[in-house]
Amino acid sequence: MEVVILSGKEQAGALAADAIEALLRAKPDAVLGLATGSSPLPIYDELARRHRDRGLSFAAAQGFALDEYVGLAPGHPESYAEVVRREFSQRVDIDPARVHAPDGAAADIAAEGERYEAAIKAAGGVDLQILGLGTDGHLGFNEPGSSLASRTRLKTLTEQTRQDNARFFDSIDEVPHHVLTQGLGTIMDAKHLVLIATGANKAPAVHATVEGPVTAICPGSVLQLHPHVTFLVDEAAASEL
Ligand code: GLP
Repeated sequence: MEVVILSGKEQAGALAADAIEALLRAKPDAVLGLATGSSPLPIYDELARRHRDRGLSFAAAQGFALDEYVGLAPGHPESYAEVVRREFSQRVDIDPARVHAPDGAAADIAAEGERYEAAIKAAGGVDLQILGLGTDGHLGFNEPGSSLASRTRLKTLTEQTRQDNARFFDSIDEVPHHVLTQGLGTIMDAKHLVLIATGANKAPAVHATVEGPVTAICPGSVLQLHPHVTFLVDEAAASEL
């Protein structure tokens, strides 16, 4: 794992955008793995800027979201499909029909997990997966205790994650309890993982991910087993390394 300590989140966003731009120039039809949460926002800002200012094109690319809430009304502004559309897809020239998310409103959630796995496989797999890190070390919505080999499936959020994400909703009561998330095994299949963590509240999770034992108690630690991980952290998030 390559850990890069930067002075701020804008620098982290720019470095991640460098990796994505290099990939797209070499492989215009690359498959991008898209994360939500606040950590990747500087990446999407920078990609939108490069699209606008120097014609970086996503026209032939595809995108797959990491995860989705279960139980939100379709089109809910905080559904991850909407967040990806708002923060990324509609700011660049990617074909919206080629940006996918698990359907959290599917009648058969288990079947939807299998369908999503098959869709990623049919696309040729994810070339570059953007990732954030939960304060409890979760990746996507793979909470502590998730199998390191897991695939896209239903998960129940911990109280800590619901509290962390309550800021996106009017009250914590509106935060769903259930989600569909790519598994840790799914994430580990991506060819290049670009993880971004900023702020002092991420410092314990960054420490456990980079320097702790590989354990399901800290899902991020599974990344130690991946051959190509770029972990972008600011000085606050790196303070316990
Ligand atoms: C959510 C998302 C994760 C994200 C995490 C951290 O739980 N499912 O993909 O990494 O939040 O969010 P933030 O970047 O806002 O701290």
